Amino acid sequence: MKGLILSGGKGTRLYPLTYTRAKQLIPVANKPILFRVIEAIREAGITEIGIVIGDTGPEIREAVGDGSRWGATITYIQQEQPLGLAHAVKISRDFLGDERFVMFLGDNVIQGGIHRLITDFARHPEWNSQIVLTRVEHPEQYGVAKLTADGRVERLIEKPKTPPSDLALVGIYMFDSHIFEATEQISPSWRGELEITDAIQWLVDHGHTVYPYVHQGWWIDTGRPDDMLEANSKVLEELTPEILGFVDEQSDVDSRVTVQAGAQIINSTIRGPAIIGENTRIVNSYIGPFTSIYHNVVIENCEIDRSIVLEHSVMRDINVRVQDSLIGRHALVQRSEYRPRALKLNLGDYSKIGLV
Ligand code: TTP
Repeated sequence: MKGLILSGGKGTRLYPLTYTRAKQLIPVANKPILFRVIEAIREAGITEIGIVIGDTGPEIREAVGDGSRWGATITYIQQEQPLGLAHAVKISRDFLGDERFVMFLGDNVIQGGIHRLITDFARHPEWNSQIVLTRVEHPEQYGVAKLTADGRVERLIEKPKTPPSDLALVGIYMFDSHIFEATEQISPSWRGELEITDAIQWLVDHGHTVYPYVHQGWWIDTGRPDDMLEANSKVLEELTPEILGFVDEQSDVDSRVTVQAGAQIINSTIRGPAIIGENTRIVNSYIGPFTSIYHNVVIENCEIDRSIVLEHSVMRDINVRVQDSLIGRHALVQRSEYRPRALKLNLGDYSKIGLV
């Protein structure tokens, strides 16, 4: 079995962060989402992995490399334009050949891995496809599956007004080579994309068997900043804490905090679950629960809560608590020493700031 990860796309809902960076490389609990996806596939025993890349391809290649770090072989598949999930499958035909494969969206985070799903699909060679579903509270906001009385997938409906079930599609799918026939036959949707739901519906309509796999734990599609923070909280809760950096005697760091190598905590309080990245300095500050401070960051005289701060950023002397925030790379947030005492902002396009 092979693995296919979709890591192209535009990431418009995460602008401005994703103007300059692939959303799949944004870390949750200090590890890029894409690395978590690769690990999930690798833990399920799959070593041949293809990654579909778009404009942010060079950055992804550099971060991921050839896969040897995970004991995997990685093949990059360039998608010239983000023309849809089924288009990404279509252009991956040479890599996938006739093998059965798991397709995983590179911006999804799932609890508990995919080992059981892979085993289930392997045990049923007569199944043409298996799609991961999860029960959601508001099915009208998702792609929803209608099942037959004997438990097969009968229909997939995008954001239905009257949902036939509360089973929403998660971004993980298993296919055999019949999916290529489907991707050849379907037409682009109103938004100009080849939709994977249309391809799966084509399979069902043409007598191929599609089975559900109902995932029990949490699953987050990190399309928007709030989803990123939510994924960060969930993963932090499951992290096994360890202190590899330096914590001075004046600091109070509780038992659910990870301090990565080379980090320094000086005269500060850190309440977990939280993680402080490599070579980051936290000085005279409070870091609250559900916060991930990534590598090479400096935080001085600040209070930060339920937030993600990316690498090489500096936050200094801020006199209000920073909460529910996603701070990009190389950001500088500080109080100005000069008069007049006013907000002096130098913001990129599409930046969002909530002032008190
Ligand atoms: P989406 O979140 O549906 O699309 P997007 O990443 O372009 O984001 P936005 O809607 O905010 O603009 O994509 C899900 C995953 O699939 C994501 O990892 C990107 C990837 N993808 C491709 O690789 N190729 C594609 O053609 C599309 C549409 C998505």
